[in-house]
Amino acid sequence: MTGLLQPDHRGVSTDALLTVEDLSVGFPTDDGVVRAVRNVSYTLRPREVLGIVGESGSGKSVSSMAVMGLLPRTAKVTGSIRYRDRELVGLSYKDMQSVRNNGVAMIFQDPMTSLNPVYTIGWQLAEAYRAHHSVSKRTAWAKAIEALELVGIPQPDRRASQYPHEFSGGMRQRVVIAMAIINDPDVIIADEPTTALDVTVQAQILETLLRLRDEVDAAIVMITHDLGVVAGMVDRVQVMYGGTVVEAGPVEEIFDRPRMPYTVGLLGSLPNPARLGQRLTPITGAPPSLINLPAGCAFSPRCPLVIDQCRTSEPPLLATERGDHSTRCHRWQHLAGLNRPRELFEHEEIGVIENPAALVEADPDIPVATEAHTVELRLPQEGPSA
Ligand SMILES: Nc1ncnc2c1ncn2[C@@H]1O[C@H](COP(=O)(O)OP(=O)(O)OP(=O)(O)O)[C@@H](O)[C@H]1O
Ligand code: SF4
Ligand SMILES: [Mg+2]
Repeated sequence: MTGLLQPDHRGVSTDALLTVEDLSVGFPTDDGVVRAVRNVSYTLRPREVLGIVGESGSGKSVSSMAVMGLLPRTAKVTGSIRYRDRELVGLSYKDMQSVRNNGVAMIFQDPMTSLNPVYTIGWQLAEAYRAHHSVSKRTAWAKAIEALELVGIPQPDRRASQYPHEFSGGMRQRVVIAMAIINDPDVIIADEPTTALDVTVQAQILETLLRLRDEVDAAIVMITHDLGVVAGMVDRVQVMYGGTVVEAGPVEEIFDRPRMPYTVGLLGSLPNPARLGQRLTPITGAPPSLINLPAGCAFSPRCPLVIDQCRTSEPPLLATERGDHSTRCHRWQHLAGLNRPRELFEHEEIGVIENPAALVEADPDIPVATEAHTVELRLPQEGPSA
């Protein structure tokens, strides 16, 4: 099966595991077609970690559900999704079953989606293993304990006999990761696996995923709405807006030289240690309707750099001055020439707040830089952790 693949110096193939090309997904509804994903492409090689970042509704989950073959039947999927040399678009549910878990596994945001409350953790893991291997129950149980140990669950042999409700949120999420890796997948898609967890546990879960990348040679797609989560974790970032990729490149490039105003806005809404106690500068306005997308650039109604051309023609995704960095913006060169691009969104800042903790207490949705955030934030200059 791997005969065509070229090994690198570690003996790991450098050829693509997953190739998504021009993927589009539409959902017909009474009000029109929801164009949830438009012309998304990416390639994932062994041990590579790709971050997919964007606001709620930008198509992150739908594009991944398309890879997993888990979209409702009504969804119209076009383009190509290749796992190794196998085309996945158009495969039957049954054929996809062999690719799921064995080849590409997904970790869902809510651990209870993947766990059955009435069975022990060990039983569920063992059954997941037996679904793809003809082994005895005893062997599968041993494999379950091994998987729990791999994701850092203490006393795995004792914990295997417990039920999901006996685990804390963070430990439950580790169990879900164990479930995803028990059949040794090549690709793990982690869809916001940490948002329901506190920041310390989030960091532990992300470290567990990175360790698995090294131990089982898996490639990872990390989906999040928070650019801060991917800093220091991923190799490449793909920023999504209105169902399509608006910027893509190596993580340092995206942080240091963003070439799309939306990415600049996302960076401005990250907690920044230098501005502790100040209100963050979120992008105002709402994401576009996916049924009636704006003509031209989907970000034009919210963009501080908008010009007439943006309202009539959608920019193509083109390489910037660096070939491995691309952007969908008519004005990326203008943006590149700005000394302080983050100031583009600063008119939205509302002065210095003396007691940010009280503000968060009053309204938890208000994004305010707090000490807790800045301590846990993995800043890009730390570099990818090993
Ligand atoms: N079955 C469906 N029918 C119609 N529209 C759908 C369906 N599933 C998803 N959508 C729409 O597709 C768009 C993209 O959804 P998706 O779940 O991919 O967003 P997301 O980027 O993962 O957001 P979040 O960060 O909130 O998880 C949304 O507008 C959503 O309402
Ligand atoms: S194309 Fe125009 S509206 Fe869109 S991001 Fe670039 S400058 Fe803004
Ligand atoms: Mg989602």
